[in-house]
Amino acid sequence: MTSFSAVLDTLRSSTGKHLDDLVQWLKIPSISSDSRKREEVRAAADWVANKLSDAGLLVDLIPTDRHPFVYAETQPVPGAPVVLVYGHYDVQPVEPLDQWINEPFDPTVRDGNLYARGATDDKGQVLTHVQSVCQWLSTDYPLPLQIKFLIEGEEEVGSESLEQRLPELKERLACDCVVISDNSQYSDGQPAITYGLRGIATYELSITGPSQDLHSGSFGGAIMNPAIALCHLLSSMVDSDGKIQLPGYYDRVRPLDDEERDQWSRLPQTDEDFAASVGVKDLFGETGYSTDERRWARPTFDINGLCSGHQGEGVKTIIPATASAKFSFRLVPDQDPSELTDSIHEHLEKQMPKGVTWELTPDHGAPGMLASTDSRFAQAAKEAIGEAFGTEPVLIREGGSIPIVTKFQEVLGCDCLLLGWGLSDDNAHSPNEKFRIQDYHDGTIASAVLWEKIGKLSS
Ligand code: BES
Ligand code: MN
Ligand code: MN
Repeated sequence: MTSFSAVLDTLRSSTGKHLDDLVQWLKIPSISSDSRKREEVRAAADWVANKLSDAGLLVDLIPTDRHPFVYAETQPVPGAPVVLVYGHYDVQPVEPLDQWINEPFDPTVRDGNLYARGATDDKGQVLTHVQSVCQWLSTDYPLPLQIKFLIEGEEEVGSESLEQRLPELKERLACDCVVISDNSQYSDGQPAITYGLRGIATYELSITGPSQDLHSGSFGGAIMNPAIALCHLLSSMVDSDGKIQLPGYYDRVRPLDDEERDQWSRLPQTDEDFAASVGVKDLFGETGYSTDERRWARPTFDINGLCSGHQGEGVKTIIPATASAKFSFRLVPDQDPSELTDSIHEHLEKQMPKGVTWELTPDHGAPGMLASTDSRFAQAAKEAIGEAFGTEPVLIREGGSIPIVTKFQEVLGCDCLLLGWGLSDDNAHSPNEKFRIQDYHDGTIASAVLWEKIGKLSS
């Protein structure tokens, strides 16, 4: 009779194969926001679907209007919990290309890291769970619980298809706990369990002035410059301390509790380390809150992109005909993204100068989430991470957003475990994205240990 150690042996002796697999997957440029990349996005879905079906899982590629969901399941295990692993096979765009050391879709190993777009976000991380399950099934030690996979291709563009289809998939996705690895450890050497994420609301604001670009000498002073209007409007959203100026913006913000603040104040990273890790001299943000509090539990406003006027070489003295900006807010529990859109409208109506027209286009919105920290699943995860990484995890929140998580909690009524194997300097969404190879392998072991421990719980 084989035991769980057979699974661990198989995983430990297959690290080379696991790395090759990740390299193969990362070669596929599955940029979901790029409509010219439809085929490639589809190829990334096929790649993981094949991997799961080769290992004996029942796989279904569920089509959507945009990019398909990869759904897979192992055999039901009566009396044991059901876990749903969620992740995404789509990736962010790669610009600015000239800042990459290797090509973003030519995965390259340097200093114990694998560099490629999607390495940490999220192909490398979700693949840890795929590997642990696929390898487990190659042993004759039975998997002690049912595992379902839902790996989607629209997370980086807001998970709209999944949000729409979730109610109809409710029975199929029924589970006791969702497990997600699409986030980070607290710091190098300090793994974490993440029990909260911020929500998000993203917008594009377009300002239109004259019917075409005009000579700024002949017309300057006589008409409103759309780029100036845009600058005024954007700066009216936030004060110099980072406090957001929209009506009612903080009304629903759930205050931090003292115990939580106390726990976070004991986390090991200093402001100096944090500043150094991103290459700035000083940190910035709302007064009265620590860096982690500001990143994890306070709402923020950011400009993500600005566009107007002459971008080429040299001087061009014009009043640009148009100006536009993409901006986003991070939200915390209990802020509501649709209420926010109303208050931005109200604010813009009031602040908008004469002589321009404007259009505000909301893109995606998702509320902030909190998960329980004392569930039996969280306990199992604590032990599994401690065993695999050699260090007990700390409990943290993070500032990023996974739009579908609160919908899982609502619609599936399940617990949620966010187990990040990445590091905050993995360069997600940036040039030279990477995943530390040791974290990939440790994450795979932690995943297997987690299945073994959850398998001992009753359903
Ligand atoms: N993996 C991230 C979410 C994340 C980032 C969680 C950092 C924890 C820490 C995810 O792929 C992501 O980038 N989400 C977007 C959502 C948006 C495009 C709707 C985000 O947070 O900007
Ligand atoms: Mn992600
Ligand atoms: Mn991302």
